[in-house]
Amino acid sequence: MIKKLYVVGSNTKKSLSPVIFNYWFKKNNISAKYKFKEYNKKNFKTEIKKILDQKTTIGFNVTIPFKETMKKMLHKVDLHAVKIGAVNFVVKENNKWIGKNTDWLGFEKSINLNKRKIKKNIVIVIGYGGASKAVIYSLKKMKFKKIIIANRTVSKINKIKDSQIKPIEIKDISKYLKAANLIVNTTPVDVLKNIINNKRKIDVLACDIVYSPKETGFLSHFKKNKRIYGISMLVHQAKPCFENLFSIKIRNTKELFLLLDKKIK
Ligand code: ATR
Repeated sequence: MIKKLYVVGSNTKKSLSPVIFNYWFKKNNISAKYKFKEYNKKNFKTEIKKILDQKTTIGFNVTIPFKETMKKMLHKVDLHAVKIGAVNFVVKENNKWIGKNTDWLGFEKSINLNKRKIKKNIVIVIGYGGASKAVIYSLKKMKFKKIIIANRTVSKINKIKDSQIKPIEIKDISKYLKAANLIVNTTPVDVLKNIINNKRKIDVLACDIVYSPKETGFLSHFKKNKRIYGISMLVHQAKPCFENLFSIKIRNTKELFLLLDKKIK
C-alpha cells in the first residue's frame, strides 16, 4: 500500500512541499506519495473529509487559508497549535487525527539564533494573520523582549492586550527600523515599497516568509548578508512533520536546499 500525504490550501499548485517530501521519500526508500490539493472555502469541509476517511492517508500539511478552520475538524489538537490558534500539520495517531503546529519551530530554526548571535531587544513583525501568530509565539519562546507589530488593518492589532507587544501603523515602521534587531514580513506583499525611499540598503537582519521568488521585494530593501530567505522556514517546518510521520531523523539539508534554489530563482 502506497502511503498518501498532501498539502491542502487554496493556492497550493506552486507549493514546494511536494518537492521536499518526495525528495525525502526517495532518499529514505519510503513508499509514499505527497501531492497538492487545492480547495476553496465552499468545498473545503467535504473534500477534507474524503482525505480524512481515505485509509491510505497518513498525514497532511495545511496552508492558507485553512489553518484555523482545520482545528475544528480533528480529534485532538496539540498544545502549540492551541496556543498559536492554527494547525499546519495533521497526522494519524492511534487511529485518531491530531492537529499540530510546526511553523513556530520552522521559524526558530531559520532564524538560527545560536549561529547569528543577534540581540533580542526589539523585533518588528509585519502582518497579523495565522503565520504571524506562529512567528510571534516563536519569538516569545526565544525570549525577544519587545515585539512591534505593524498591520494594514490596525483595528486587528490595537486590541492585543500584551505589555510585550506594541501595535503600530505600517507607515510608522521607518521610525523603528534602526532600533530593531530583526524584522519579519509575514504578508504576501512588500509593504515597505512605498515607505522606504532611501536607496541605501538597510543594515538590519530581515526575514521573509514568502519563499518564491527567493529575492522578494521586501528582502531587496536589506543588505544581502542580512537576508533570511523564506525557503528556510518552509524546509524547517516540514522537517519535524517528516520526522514525526516516519521516525527518521533528517540530518543533512544541504542537497535539498540546492535543489529548491534551482526551482525558486
Ligand atoms: P497567513 O496565514 O499567511 O498569515 P492571513 O491569515 O490571511 O495569512 O494573513 C495575511 C496577513 O497579510 C494579514 O496581516 C494581512 O493584513 P490585514 O490584517 O490587514 O488583512 C496581510 N496582508 C495581506 N495582503 C496585504 C496587502 N496587500 N497589504 C498589506 N498587508 C496585507
